[in-house]
Amino acid sequence: MKRLIFIFTLLFASNSVWAVITPADATTNNIYTEMLIVLFLVALLLLIVSVVLLKTVRVMANEIKVPGIIPAAEPTKMLEYEEWQAAEKSKISSKQSVWNKLLGLRPISEEKDMMLEHDFDGITELDNPTPVWFNAMFYASILFAVIYLLNYHVLEWSPLQDEEYAIEMKAAVASKAVFLAKAGNLIDETTVKVDDDAIVLAAGKTVFMQNCVACHAPDGGGIIGPNLTDEYWIHGGTVNNIFKTIKYGIPEKGMISWEKTLKVKQMSDVSNFILSLKGTKPANPKEPQGTKM
Ligand code: HEC
Repeated sequence: MKRLIFIFTLLFASNSVWAVITPADATTNNIYTEMLIVLFLVALLLLIVSVVLLKTVRVMANEIKVPGIIPAAEPTKMLEYEEWQAAEKSKISSKQSVWNKLLGLRPISEEKDMMLEHDFDGITELDNPTPVWFNAMFYASILFAVIYLLNYHVLEWSPLQDEEYAIEMKAAVASKAVFLAKAGNLIDETTVKVDDDAIVLAAGKTVFMQNCVACHAPDGGGIIGPNLTDEYWIHGGTVNNIFKTIKYGIPEKGMISWEKTLKVKQMSDVSNFILSLKGTKPANPKEPQGTKM
């Protein structure tokens, strides 16, 4: 009964602790739940160990009780004691026999049957039976090993660590690709933003130096293509206009479409780089073309 109360108290306590420490966030919730389960298992283990120890001590104590403590001068008391002991013993044996079997405990009265043959200076050894729980664990571990071997190495139902890693990496790469495709598609000529961040401008400059200088000159002053530093634009001077010109090109006028060659981000970067050229003084500026913006 006491034990039941203890277990219920434990359950109740862990439940309220759970309620207190569980935050709304799902990921941390998982960690807390795991922590709690571990705590609960540890508590349960402690409970089992203490109960087992208590039982063992009790069994031993009952066996050790000797009439010697009763004064020999009082035979009536001695008789009472023996009656009491017999009654107690039968109570214990009926109540505890299952338990004792589980623990592999045997009363001291049976000690003689368990004595092993060899004897060293009067020190002998008992052939105590292996506890049932130990045997159960032993066979369970063999069973586990067989299932494990079949599952992972013979039938190969479940992936091994390396494969698991590869599978997860593959999934990550796939989801990254999906994310990037989405993120990339978010930028187009209507959504491209003005950005004068140094990193963006540097990236844009790299794109410009690699692809555009042949026609627009390294300083943007223009060769075949128009001057990109002045205030005159044929196709508009906003970041959206510039992005659109770069993306689709003006093929009939010699400005090719970069949609297939450059990434969306690169086109956005180089558009911003061109914006940053405004007002710079190129060495050989081409005469203004288009309308003043
Ligand atoms: C093969 C030569 C050539 C290359 C390479 C080239 N352009 Fe052009 N670009 C042109 C020509 C020609 C025009 C003018 C089109 C017109 O007259 O409509 C032009 C126009 C432009 C315009 C519009 C200017 C305005 O006044 O509206 C922008 C912006 C531009 N190019 C950016 C780029 C960028 C960025 C690159 C590199 C990724 C690039 N160009 C590469 C030839 C080129």
